[in-house]
Amino acid sequence: MARLVIVSNRVPAARERSQPAGGLTVALKDAILRRETLWFGWSGHLTSGQTASEPSIRPGHPTFATIDLPQEAFRSFYEGFSNSTLWPLLHWRPGLAEFRRDELDAYYAVNDMFAAALAPLLRADDVVWIHDYHLIPLGAALQARGAAQRLGFFLHVPFPPAPLFDTLPQAGQLLKALGAYDLVGVQTRADATYLQTAVRSVGGSVPVAPFPVGIGANAFEKLARQAQAIKDTERLHASLAGRTLILGVDRLDYSKGLPERFRGYAQLLRRFPAHRNHVTFIQVAPVSRGNVAHYRALRRELDELTGRINGDLAEFNWTPLRYITRSLPRATLAGFHRLARVALVTPLRDGMNLVAKEFIAAQPPDDPGIEVLSRFAGAAEELTDALLVNPSDPDEIAGALDAALSMPLEERKRRWENMMQVVRRHSARAWAESFLERLADPGRQAA
Ligand code: ADP
Ligand code: G6P
Repeated sequence: MARLVIVSNRVPAARERSQPAGGLTVALKDAILRRETLWFGWSGHLTSGQTASEPSIRPGHPTFATIDLPQEAFRSFYEGFSNSTLWPLLHWRPGLAEFRRDELDAYYAVNDMFAAALAPLLRADDVVWIHDYHLIPLGAALQARGAAQRLGFFLHVPFPPAPLFDTLPQAGQLLKALGAYDLVGVQTRADATYLQTAVRSVGGSVPVAPFPVGIGANAFEKLARQAQAIKDTERLHASLAGRTLILGVDRLDYSKGLPERFRGYAQLLRRFPAHRNHVTFIQVAPVSRGNVAHYRALRRELDELTGRINGDLAEFNWTPLRYITRSLPRATLAGFHRLARVALVTPLRDGMNLVAKEFIAAQPPDDPGIEVLSRFAGAAEELTDALLVNPSDPDEIAGALDAALSMPLEERKRRWENMMQVVRRHSARAWAESFLERLADPGRQAA
């Protein structure tokens, strides 16, 4: 079988143990198939010069090849065009999107650095699978350097309606660059429709299809079961002193709807005071992209909101909201998910949201919890037995929380069983397999 080459800006090898992975690396790590794989990406290190380093190769399964990138260009590429322009736009937030021509230029330049370093490593029969919004023009850049391999692209984040994307200067050039790919995958049917329409509006053409990403459900289920016995989980359990745990786990990102969620929880305590002193909400939100202005502003807002909510509603022996901006080991998180009776997964807009699936996988089958899930997460297309809410309305969140906290066991079980089936069936591995099968044979229909 041909070698698979995965390309993404972020690679798991570059991560410190203490850092959150983000959905892309988590899904891909769980999806690594039994075939030979090279995973190419940024090392996490910067150089002071103008050029990228030679690839550094770490053989294994997969083999990693990573490059250091020049500091200045990287800033404009990553903090600039990728995360201050594309990220907000793709998450339907044009009001937050900034545009600078020099950052757009750096975006193309860094994509070309990826292409220059990767092209010599490619074998003629490799299948190349490129990931996410950082690397949209990489396929075209590789072809410009003579690469003739089969090229697939997967967008992990949402794609907005065409007129919204069209507010981006040079949008057409970026959409046309997608023409280099033999297959473009997105998370949902809606994303596929929007992207297809946008590409056609600039006279382009490319096969686009939805491939909803999943998790390694069995592995996470096992991790959560085993995590019951680890020290962190036991300490959390003891600290709850019999109270019901409501849990949120997200990168500290404005797409995750955290202020609205915090307000929703405060509304629960105000409108349904019977829950006071009987619940504890823990939000784990590790700092992400901390050099980007809107992320810093969000952090300040949440610091203030947490202080206000606890100040207003705490009692001398009860802190309603615990807020942690560090990341936690995966096993600890899995244990927390298992202890939680309610998950709050309320992004304003999200490609998929893997946390929504991890919570389901971690629940005890004989007494499962309930998930309050945003209608605007890709996961809502599949997890229709969650309590679906509009994440912008704290009152709706409060109502759903109250319903979740008072739901009888039979109904919780029925909902959980349905969702667990979906989470198991649409695993990370099934996702990668179906994308790659289709890429190898574009004529066939998605399963
Ligand atoms: P995104 O890709 O936008 O970050 P997802 O929910 O799809 O959102 O994926 C996030 C991934 O990162 C999940 O697998 C989640 O478990 C992991 N993660 C999130 N927060 C933390 C944390 N505090 N510590 C460790 N891993 C985390
Ligand atoms: C999301 C994006 C990924 C990204 C991750 C973490 O999942 O889709 O491409 O890697 O967030 O963000 P970071 O900026 O730390 O790579």
